[in-house]
This record gives sequence, C-alpha cells and structure tokens, in this order.
Amino acid sequence: MTTILKGNILHAPAFGALETVPGGCMVLEDGRIQGIYPVLPERYAACPVTDYGQGLIMPSFADMHLHAPQYPMLGMGMDLPLLDWLDAYTFPVEAHFADNEYARLVYRQLAEDLISSGTTRVAMFSSRHTDATLILMEELERAGVCGAVGKVNMDRSGGPAQEGTEESLRETLRWLEACRFAHIRPILTPRFIPSCTDGLLEALGELARERGLPVQSHLSENQGEIALVARLHPDCAHYWEGYRKFGLWKEGTLMAHCVHSGEAEQEAMAESGVWAVHCAASNVNLCSGTAPVRRLLERGVRVALGSDIAGGDQLAMNRVIAASIRASKVRQMETGEAFLTVPEAYYLGSTAGHAYFGGGGFATGQPLHAIVVDDGEMPRPVRELRLEERFERAVYLMEKRHIRAVYSEGRKVLDRG
Ligand code: GUN
Ligand code: FE
Repeated sequence: MTTILKGNILHAPAFGALETVPGGCMVLEDGRIQGIYPVLPERYAACPVTDYGQGLIMPSFADMHLHAPQYPMLGMGMDLPLLDWLDAYTFPVEAHFADNEYARLVYRQLAEDLISSGTTRVAMFSSRHTDATLILMEELERAGVCGAVGKVNMDRSGGPAQEGTEESLRETLRWLEACRFAHIRPILTPRFIPSCTDGLLEALGELARERGLPVQSHLSENQGEIALVARLHPDCAHYWEGYRKFGLWKEGTLMAHCVHSGEAEQEAMAESGVWAVHCAASNVNLCSGTAPVRRLLERGVRVALGSDIAGGDQLAMNRVIAASIRASKVRQMETGEAFLTVPEAYYLGSTAGHAYFGGGGFATGQPLHAIVVDDGEMPRPVRELRLEERFERAVYLMEKRHIRAVYSEGRKVLDRG
C-alpha cells in the first residue's frame, strides 16, 4: 500500500551532512521509503496523506549501547570509578533479574520509555539471566523497538551477578534456541575481559564463528580497567588483543567507549571493521574521560552513539547527542580536537546506528525509522527560524511531549494524534 507523509523533512544522510525538504512529501510503499519530494508527483495524488503540517519529520534514534537491567538505577550512584561502581551498585541491581515478574515490569516500562523518547533501534545488554533476557526481547518487540539484545556472559568477578562457566555456555545455547523474534536478534555479549575467564571467551569466540553471530562488549573505558586487563593478559600489548585472541574481534563487533584507545587500537578497529560506540554522558558521569571521536572517524572507524544507561543518566538520545557535543567541546579545550557539530552528532545518534543493521537514514528502499517533532511550544523566537535552526533547537530541547509520532521499521508505533 502506498501512503504519504507530509511535513518538514530533515535528515543526516552522511557524517556532517544535513538535508532539508521544507513542506516535503515522503512516499512510503508498505512502510518502505519510495522517495522524498518537494512537491508530490501527480501519480500519487490519490494516495492517503498524513499531514504533519509544520512538524519536523526526522530519523529516529539508534541507541547502540545500553544496559536494560540498570534501568532501575537510572540517575543514581554515579560517584565511583568504573570497577568500584560495578561492584557497589551495578552487580547487586542486575542480580534482581533472576525474578521474572520483576523483569517483566521493568522491561515493559523501559521499552515504552524508549519508543516515547524516539529510539527505535538498540544494541542492548541484558543481565546473565536467560529468562529475563527473553522477557526483555518480548517487551521490546511488543513496543516496536528493533535491533539486537545480548544475554550477558560473566563467570568472573561479578559477585551476585555472576554465573559458572559451564552454566554460562549452557544458558547461552538455551537462550539462542529460544530467540524467535521478528525485529530483535541475538548478539553475543561477553561483558568485558575482566568478567570472563579464558575458557568462556574461547567458547564464545568459537560460537560466534560457528554460527556467524555478532559480538558486543566494552573496550578501554577506564584506566583502572585497562590496568586490570594488562595484568590478566600479560601477553597482550593492548586491551583489544584480548578479544582478538579468542576470535571476538571481527567485522561488526560493537565496542563501547574506546575512551583511552591509542593509535594502535584505533588502527586495529579500522582494519577489522570493529565499531566504536561512543557514550559521552556515561564517560563524564563515571569520570572515565572524553573519547577521541573525531580521531576515530578520521582513521575510518565506524562510530555510533550509546546512552550506556545507567552509567549514562539519560535514556533520551537527543540528550545523549547533546552530551556528545558538550563532551567534544571539553575535549577541544583540552586537546584541540575539533568539536562535533549538531548535524555530525545527530548523524552518529541516528543514521550511523541504523546503518549497523543495514541501510539507514531516509534512503530509498529503507523501512521508515522516524520521529515527528512538534516544536510549536518551544520558546517563541524573535523571528521566523530557518529549518536548520529548528533542527538544532529540537536536538537540544526536545522532550517526550514534543514527539507526536514514531515510526519503526515502517510501522507507526506511537501516535499522539
Ligand atoms: N564495563 C563492564 N560492564 C560495564 C557496565 O555495566 N557499564 C559500563 N559503563 N562499563 C562496563
Ligand atoms: Fe556499558
């Protein structure tokens, strides 16, 4: 079926690019973008139109790194460095997801929060619990969130959140067997090197190879973590080599943070097609540092953004985008590395993440992932704003109440009328 969306269409098709079609028409064929036109071609004149008037039609967000079982601790306890923070707050909270009923309540609330915040794609960590992970996938699917979710593997140094090595592997296979979702796929998720024994990492590397499964983990987030990895793997000159040793460093592997990745690690990412997921809010909250985002991009590393809740305090990706710009300005003051512009950061928080799953943005042939923003109640300007100015303001000021509609994989999943 052919349908038309009408409004001010804005998108970031490439890093640094911003395209605007004021009062434009987007033609959809069964939810896939057929074309964007300043004036509707005559041949579509009889098709049903949803007219968003002065609304801004923009790509929805892709949150490429977040921890679902940390949602209950959102906005609290960001007063310790990474390893202490994990022990003091994170592992005890994640242990509660042995309770399926509790998991259902939390994950339903999270899935709805994601959609009403305009996030339609995720790469997400669950906890080590298989059943809670399947509940999480169900709730995302029900709400209309697409992407990848991983049952976390951790058989070392995890306190109450930890599992045995055999159990970890057995449960991973049970989880994979039960993953039957239309829009949510599994991704192998060794938590990070310090949480996993060599035996577990080796078995997961083998599983990734055998079944062609993607991998996500953490890399070079914090100096204490890096020193620990160096002690655990004295044969590795750099953190990333620990993942390579076990077959987990490969095309499409998602590595969160990369705050302290030096030249060699950055080169290794570019060469292998490993993605960096930049989590600016979390990196500041946990005093981890500011990541070399522009350097990574200049080297040819693929970069996307993550909220990393609950190291990050904001689920709304427009706020994560704003945090990335702010962190990049601090970095410019410290190192001279040029800060991220609004269109650049928006690209990283939307189209770049969608592209991880193939395609992305408002390109022809793509299933629609979009939000419609009504900025009518934002501060009254002194003159009529250009569309680029309204876009910038929407990125900084957008709240849930401004998001009128959300489309995910061609389906309308939120409609405020
Ligand atoms: N490294 C290993 N686990 C975690 C986590 O839960 N959050 C963050 N920010 N870093 C990690
Ligand atoms: Fe994380």
